[in-house]
Amino acid sequence: ALSVNDYLRQHIRTVPDWPSAGVQFRDITPLLQDPKVFRVLIDAFVHRYMDRGMRPDVVAGLDARGFILGAVVAYELNVGFVPIRKKGKLPFTTVEETYELEYGSATVELHTDAVRAGDRVLLIDDLIATGGTMMAGKKLLEKLGATVFEGAAIVDLPELGGSARLRAGGLPLYTLVDFA
Ligand code: PRP
Ligand code: HPA
Repeated sequence: ALSVNDYLRQHIRTVPDWPSAGVQFRDITPLLQDPKVFRVLIDAFVHRYMDRGMRPDVVAGLDARGFILGAVVAYELNVGFVPIRKKGKLPFTTVEETYELEYGSATVELHTDAVRAGDRVLLIDDLIATGGTMMAGKKLLEKLGATVFEGAAIVDLPELGGSARLRAGGLPLYTLVDFA
């Protein structure tokens, strides 16, 4: 029988040369499209974080694909969901964090009342590449006094070194599928 991880791997689409030549883009949309696969995916996260000692106070999701996963996982855990958005989208007062991309930089924001000091937060995205996005999200939550006890994603691209850097920086990670 196929493991959950291999079942999910088989439903991730690889698009060659997108968005630019030489990139093998790991597309998670087929996982969401098939209701049976979508349920296996969400349950893989929900079962881990339902356990005593693993339940978050809040789930934070990273713009944009982290919203799809994070919101459903939060709903199933019966905890709230907060979005970490690309700059300029959130209407209320925010904290912000800028990080380096391959070319240029990006800024993400979080509402100042999204979490409370002492909250244990689960931070979710679809994929970890350089780890810059997840690290920026962790810093935003920590600026508000919250603790990110784990980062979760469907896909890790370990060759880019992001997951190793995040773990070395003190963030435990739970990912379901690696692509070398
Ligand atoms: C992708 C992906 C992660 C991030 C991973 O999002 O969904 O959020 O990049 O890369 P990193 O580990 O190197 O930071 P993207 O910026 O393409 O935004 P989108 O979700 O709005 O398409
Ligand atoms: N897939 C999805 N998002 C990404 C990728 C990828 O291969 N690389 C960086 N962000």
